[in-house]
Amino acid sequence: MKKTRVVVIGTGAVGSTTAYTLLLRNRMDELVLIDANHNKAVGDALDMNHGMPFTGGAKLWAGTYEDCREADIIIITAGAAQRDGETRVDLLKRNVSIFDSIIEEVSKVNTQAILLIASNPVDIMSYFTWRKLQWPINRIIGSGTLLDSARFRYLIGEKLDIDPRSVHAHIVGEHGDSELPLWSLANVAGAQLQLSDEDKEDIFTNTRDAAYQIIDAKGATYYAIALALDRICTAILRDEGAVLNVSTLLQDYHGISDVYLGVPCIVDRQGVREVMNITITDSEKELLQCSANKLKGLIESISP
Ligand code: 2OP
Repeated sequence: MKKTRVVVIGTGAVGSTTAYTLLLRNRMDELVLIDANHNKAVGDALDMNHGMPFTGGAKLWAGTYEDCREADIIIITAGAAQRDGETRVDLLKRNVSIFDSIIEEVSKVNTQAILLIASNPVDIMSYFTWRKLQWPINRIIGSGTLLDSARFRYLIGEKLDIDPRSVHAHIVGEHGDSELPLWSLANVAGAQLQLSDEDKEDIFTNTRDAAYQIIDAKGATYYAIALALDRICTAILRDEGAVLNVSTLLQDYHGISDVYLGVPCIVDRQGVREVMNITITDSEKELLQCSANKLKGLIESISP
């Protein structure tokens, strides 16, 4: 039987924590770490390999782009990280050029894998990758608003004193400042949430600004995004058909086309099998379109 292989490109805080999460949860047979600073990948691989007597037995090594050849999923976390006070969009120019060379190298050896992108600004980096590679849309996925939706569910759960796993609520749009909450669809066991407008405002503001708060406190965010990436990998590797708010190319979606945005999607072994057809209010639609227009403007500003 073919072994399942996941490659993580970029072993900064997000990449190494993601690798460690995948390893602890025994998600694949082989895990390869690649970094521009090969020594960092070597060090991480050694450090994680020393824990192998206590984990699930995956093979793990620091590799090169050649190792992408056999990969089922290639996770890209490489790129400049957000500094204190910076928005995700501030990273755009720096990360586009780093990405160009990474995806060039990957596509020389593998055109069949699923690319899972986490580098910021993630929706634009995903769009840029799709435009350059022209692979089927389903196989180029951004982590989107899955993390934001998890933050949102956590904060709602905290307010209502309900397990966040029982809270169904979605953040959609840009993974960034123009994202929006779909309050009209938020529920617990099908029941609308008992929250005041003030509570809702607080919960959404804390969701949207969570990364700024964490970066201010400790310089970077990595645990929750690692779990979100693990969740997406699991949906793919186990062919789950899970509904996850990942970033995908939207076509004719509530009046939006030609932009990657985070929306509820069905994820399975093909990657994004389908974008969910959801009913939203007119004001949610308007905000989603604003988010799309912001990203489109940014894409145009970096397009040749
Ligand atoms: C986050 O939301 C910084 O995009 C990263 O945690």
